[in-house]
Amino acid sequence: MLDKLEAQPADALLALIKMYAADERADKIDLGVGVYRTNDGATPVFRAIKQAEQRLIDEQDSKSYLGPEGDTGFVEVLQPYIFGESSPLLPRIEGMQTPGGTGAVRLAVALAAKAGVTRIHLGTPSWPNHAQILGDVGVETVTFSHATSGGEADIDAVLGAIRSAGPSDAVLLHGCCHNPTGIDYTADQWNAIAAAFAETGVLPILDIAYQGLGLGMDEDVAGVRNVLEAVPEALIAYSCDKNFGLYRDRVGAFYMMAKEPGQLGAIASNANALARANWSMPPDHGGAAVRIALSDEGMTKVWQDELDDMRSRMRRVRDRLAAADNEAPGLGLSALASQNGLFAMLPLSKEQIVSLREDHAIYMAGSGRINVAGLHAGNTEKFIAALADVTKG
Ligand code: LMR
Repeated sequence: MLDKLEAQPADALLALIKMYAADERADKIDLGVGVYRTNDGATPVFRAIKQAEQRLIDEQDSKSYLGPEGDTGFVEVLQPYIFGESSPLLPRIEGMQTPGGTGAVRLAVALAAKAGVTRIHLGTPSWPNHAQILGDVGVETVTFSHATSGGEADIDAVLGAIRSAGPSDAVLLHGCCHNPTGIDYTADQWNAIAAAFAETGVLPILDIAYQGLGLGMDEDVAGVRNVLEAVPEALIAYSCDKNFGLYRDRVGAFYMMAKEPGQLGAIASNANALARANWSMPPDHGGAAVRIALSDEGMTKVWQDELDDMRSRMRRVRDRLAAADNEAPGLGLSALASQNGLFAMLPLSKEQIVSLREDHAIYMAGSGRINVAGLHAGNTEKFIAALADVTKG
């Protein structure tokens, strides 16, 4: 039986982590998987999370089971950051904890499928796991173009996808810091998107994996809030991996917005059943640490300062790369200044990406995506020089 299974290729991004680790060159640069790094190239545990974890260790008196919904205090304490303090939408929203943002996307897609969704429109390029999850759940992926060749979000394509969607379709959008392009919709474009959702009644699935890493906590969800205010129903996937640095602890949340508060019980019971069948209940530790950090004014302030520092540092890297446009012409580096978050796509050929890896010890996804947070004072100039080298005529 099991011998019928054919070998599957390793996940390309996760394979890159191993290749990078095996490279013994001291000046190697990791621009692969989406992990924030400091100016020293480290990915430390947030100070606020360390404090919260210490309190958790001191005060937690049981590790007995919770339920498929996880730590409800964690889910509630995040809500004002996502939906706004005292948002009138809150009575129509119910959330649950998930294993990372991936678990939340999985639940969103599976719940949509259970409600009758058979096709999901997805702007491409996208996070490769999006299409993989859709395929695994058994929902058809219909693609539209996320960005124009000019490096802007392709508003006509997304509006076309929403307007052409059928009654059993949903549309999945990145809330902010688009992965892999860094190209987000502008406020005007979000207005048009919200209006299109409202006109058509198509279900939006909104994936927020990088809140606070683009323009600011509120700014990064302004578009999502705009959509939510305009539509009757929506599904929202949320990740704390990056903005709380909890990557391997797998901390995420899934929120369902219903037409009426009275419908939430039935909707959430379906999500709970799906979670129970998939992972029973999410890992507790990281979510509990976030709950403790966000329930304490002092720790919240420390966390916000850390997040502000991360965002400013990435902005400086982006500005330096943008200023290097003439040093490595043809890559559109100047556009990086107006993009957001960890990622940018460089129009490099396969050969150039291989040369960067083999000749310069620079690791990036095969798509040409770079994690700008992998660059810092000690390696940015080397990276720019390597780009100039592989692109020279
Ligand atoms: C990434 O795109 O690098 C991250 O979201 C990590 C992952 O799980 O793929």
